[in-house]
Amino acid sequence: MTILAGVIGDPIAQSRSPRLHGHWLARYGIDGQYMPLHVRKDDLAETLRLLPRLGFAGVNVTIPHKEAAFALSDERTARAEAAGAANTLVFRDGRIIADNTDGLGFVASVQQGAPNWQMDRPALLLGAGGAARGILAGLLAAGLPEVLVANRTADKAVALADLFPGNVRAVPWDRAPDELGGIGLLANTTSLGMTGQPPLEFALDHLPPEAVVTDVVYAPLRTQLLDRAVARGHATVDGLGMLLHQAVPGFEAWFGVWPEVDDALRAAVLA
Ligand code: ATR
Repeated sequence: MTILAGVIGDPIAQSRSPRLHGHWLARYGIDGQYMPLHVRKDDLAETLRLLPRLGFAGVNVTIPHKEAAFALSDERTARAEAAGAANTLVFRDGRIIADNTDGLGFVASVQQGAPNWQMDRPALLLGAGGAARGILAGLLAAGLPEVLVANRTADKAVALADLFPGNVRAVPWDRAPDELGGIGLLANTTSLGMTGQPPLEFALDHLPPEAVVTDVVYAPLRTQLLDRAVARGHATVDGLGMLLHQAVPGFEAWFGVWPEVDDALRAAVLA
């Protein structure tokens, strides 16, 4: 029987996930279908109850449904709890199990793209939205000693730090460039630098040469931040890797194969 999965969001036409999972389904010769599902906010609860009855093994969840899907689930993984949001749902025995693989995807992407990343050093995150929370949870789960968070709206950085007592420190946005001294990883989690948005203006002068710079923005693939980091000699990792790696656990749960993230996948998703 054909296994069904997909991604729910609003809008959904721009999602790269169907191409990504479609590449893996073909590569591993699996009898499966992965489809984009345009679901509006008011229809989310009903859709999530209906999809398992239509034969779906699960779905990915994207903007704006990540928090709502988490709230509607019957069970949550520890990393979904930490993120307060779901990006991956597994339907099993009439129950909805919520997972969040964004943090794990982020960490795996940086490890693959910058093998010399010094994970025994603190990281600095720019931004304190939903993306930052998932990434922060992933970095702490991966054992980083400390994560600094800087956000334009300071209260949100403080609130995020308060969710993870002990290892997370909010720093004022204006002062963040002065906090770069011992940093091993600088990550932009804001929407700045995305096509149609202003670039992220952030001084890199104090960043140690061995620090890695990464951006969650992947349209464009090379943001101005990454270009400036390359010019200073830093290893950089673009935002596409996180998208590819976050998809791995869902594919395995629904289709039964742990898929590989490689250049062929990148090319297929970018095509
Ligand atoms: P996401 O789920 O993608 O993280 P979000 O929750 O809306 O989206 O968060 C967007 C992030 O980008 C926030 O950290 C936001 O900062 P504020 O909390 O101050 O709004 C940040 N951001 C967006 N536009 C920005 C700008 N022009 N300057 C600085 N930060 C900006």
